[in-house]
Amino acid sequence: MKKIAIFISGRGSNMQAIAQEVKSGILQNLCQIVLVFSNNCAAGGLQIARQNGLPVGCIESSGKKRTEFDREVIAFLQPYQPDYIILAGYMRILSPVFIKTYEGKIINIHPADTRLHQGLHAYQWAFENQLETTTITIHYVNEGVDTGQIIAQQNVDLKGAATLEEMEQRGLQAEYNLYSRTLAMLFAESDAQQ
Ligand code: GAR
Repeated sequence: MKKIAIFISGRGSNMQAIAQEVKSGILQNLCQIVLVFSNNCAAGGLQIARQNGLPVGCIESSGKKRTEFDREVIAFLQPYQPDYIILAGYMRILSPVFIKTYEGKIINIHPADTRLHQGLHAYQWAFENQLETTTITIHYVNEGVDTGQIIAQQNVDLKGAATLEEMEQRGLQAEYNLYSRTLAMLFAESDAQQ
């Protein structure tokens, strides 16, 4: 059973979807959420996590240097001993010190093919470029921005989506599904190897 810490910065709908699968879906008996962490203490997702009985924590990142902040986060995580850090809308680039501490154990979801689009506002990018399809990507996190090894991808049909909101809603449904399925596959494989 893997211990996971989910990192969020805002709404937290991917976190909520994972929590549901841990409670009574495909992640049941494969992992346990030991912490929902945010760099933004006002993140709406923290409230959702609390309502779901999950342990929450936050440290405000604003105004702090990246390495200084990440050292505080590493110390904060210490008692929880997470096996994996699951980024779900965590809008902060991780420093090398954090990446080294959790080398190969940090996973992110990006709402586009990371070889075509990196960083923020991937749905806006898809909308403005009138893409008929986009590719949700789950990847390991390295020191670059959305440049880590790809674990899984899924295409989403965007044809006929009249607004950015509609496009995002379609994409998010695929995100929820792909993230939990991919984590379940990874954790099951890793359990089998032990
Ligand atoms: C999601 O669409 C996620 O893929 C994206 O932020 C949103 C967070 O929503 N992440 C990135 O753009 C990372 N580059 P949520 O807080 O409701 O899960």
